[in-house]
Amino acid sequence: MRRFLDDPGACADPASAALGELIYGWGNESWSASGHYLAGCIRHALDTRGPTLECGSGLSTILLGAIARQRGERHWALEHAPEWAARVQACLHRYGLDCVAMCANPLKDYGPYSWYDAPLDSMPESFALVICDGPPGSTPGGRYGLAPVMNTRLEPGCVILLDDAGREPERAIAQRWAHELCATQETLGEARPYIRMTVGARP
Ligand SMILES: C[S@@+](CC[C@H](N)C(=O)[O-])C[C@H]1O[C@@H](n2cnc3c(N)ncnc32)[C@H](O)[C@@H]1O
Repeated sequence: MRRFLDDPGACADPASAALGELIYGWGNESWSASGHYLAGCIRHALDTRGPTLECGSGLSTILLGAIARQRGERHWALEHAPEWAARVQACLHRYGLDCVAMCANPLKDYGPYSWYDAPLDSMPESFALVICDGPPGSTPGGRYGLAPVMNTRLEPGCVILLDDAGREPERAIAQRWAHELCATQETLGEARPYIRMTVGARP
C-alpha cells in the first residue's frame, strides 16, 4: 500500500508486482476485481477530473480513494452488505481516506430490478467515472439499475467501467446501457474482460 501511495501510476499496469501484492494482501481473491480491471480503474481515475462513483466496494474503493485524495476529489462508493462496508470502511480509516463517501444501505426494490439506494440528494450533479463491479449477479436485474437510477448524473463523456464482461448477463446489460445512455462500448482486459463505455448526448 505504501508503494501504491507513493506512485499509483506504477500500479496502472496489470503486470505490476505491487498491484498483485495488493490483491493478495486484501485476501478476497475470488471476489476481488482482476489485475486487468483494477489497473484500468487506476488508469482512468488518474486521467479523470471530477467525482467518481463506484458500485460495489472492496480493494478498488481503497485504491480509488487514495487517488481521489491525491487529486483533491471525492470518491463515492455504494455498498449493500453492512459487514462488507464495515471492513472497507476500517481500511479507509486506517489510511485516512476520508474523501471516500461510503454509502451503505440495503438494496432497494425499484420494481423490475433491484439496485443500490443511492443518496441522490447529497450526491454530485455529475460523475466523471463509474466503476461498476456490483451488486452481485444474483440481484434481480443484476447491475442494470445504474442507468435508470443515476441517468441524470451520467453526462456525455462520463466513462463507465463494467467488470465481468466474460458473463453473458453483464454483456446484455452493457447493450441496454449503450442504447439508453447513447454510449459507445469496447471490451478490454484480455483473459478477464471488462467493458469500457463512454456516455453520449441523449436527445
Ligand atoms: C465483486 S465485489 C466488489 C469487489 C471490489 N470491486 C474489489 O475490488 O474488491 C461486489 C460485491 O460483492 C460483495 N462481496 C465482496 N466480497 C464478498 C465475499 N467474499 N463474499 C460475499 N460477498 C462479497 C460486496 O457486497 C461487494 O460490494
